[in-house]
Amino acid sequence: MVLPVPSTARLTLRRWTAADREPFAALNADPEVMRYFPAALDREASDRLADYADGCFDRLGFGLSAVEQRTDGRFAGFVGLHRMRWYPEDVEIGWRLARWAWGRGYATEAAGAWVGHARELGLPRLISVVDPRNAASLAVTRKLGMVEGWRAEAEGRPHVVTVLDL
Ligand SMILES: CC(C)(COP(=O)(O)OP(=O)(O)OC[C@H]1O[C@@H](n2cnc3c(N)ncnc32)[C@H](O)[C@@H]1OP(=O)(O)O)[C@@H](O)C(=O)NCCC(=O)NCCS
Repeated sequence: MVLPVPSTARLTLRRWTAADREPFAALNADPEVMRYFPAALDREASDRLADYADGCFDRLGFGLSAVEQRTDGRFAGFVGLHRMRWYPEDVEIGWRLARWAWGRGYATEAAGAWVGHARELGLPRLISVVDPRNAASLAVTRKLGMVEGWRAEAEGRPHVVTVLDL
């Protein structure tokens, strides 16, 4: 299925394929990638998350897209939109990339495409829920023009909610 999401200069954003599962499990097993989450994921939990990310498109009309590096087709992770259980009235923009893909501006580039798409959909705003220690993720929110909305704790996890009015 072709997504109504523009690919970016360096990245293809797309629905998930079976071939994504192995590299996705590898990044979810990486403690550095999962530093600000309760735990790294085993293969089963990683596959469930891939199903969730892709399933959003069928349920919501938008989702957490797989991100592929255009030069070589390498799977880099996900970026996109979903409804998070802590704030189900809002649409959250989120990102998780393999370590090799960090520091190239990929998260910001892919998220920027999703922000444009969210505007086209007429969404009133996007939120991003971030661990306050996660400086890289907070930097991405700032580069997208998001501002701090509120701080809270859920399931024992303190978090910052950043907001972008569209
Ligand atoms: C968060 C994440 C997606 C960022 O991906 P990325 O493609 O490297 O992000 P970008 O390159 O677009 O931007 C990252 C910014 O953070 C900055 N940054 C990175 N590490 C940082 C750190 N430790 N302290 C402060 N800033 C940091 C970078 O300098 C860059 O900002 P700049 O362009 O102003 O220099 C990636 O680190 C990741 O997947 N982390 C693990 C999963 C995760 O935590 N997801 C978010 C959950 S809320």
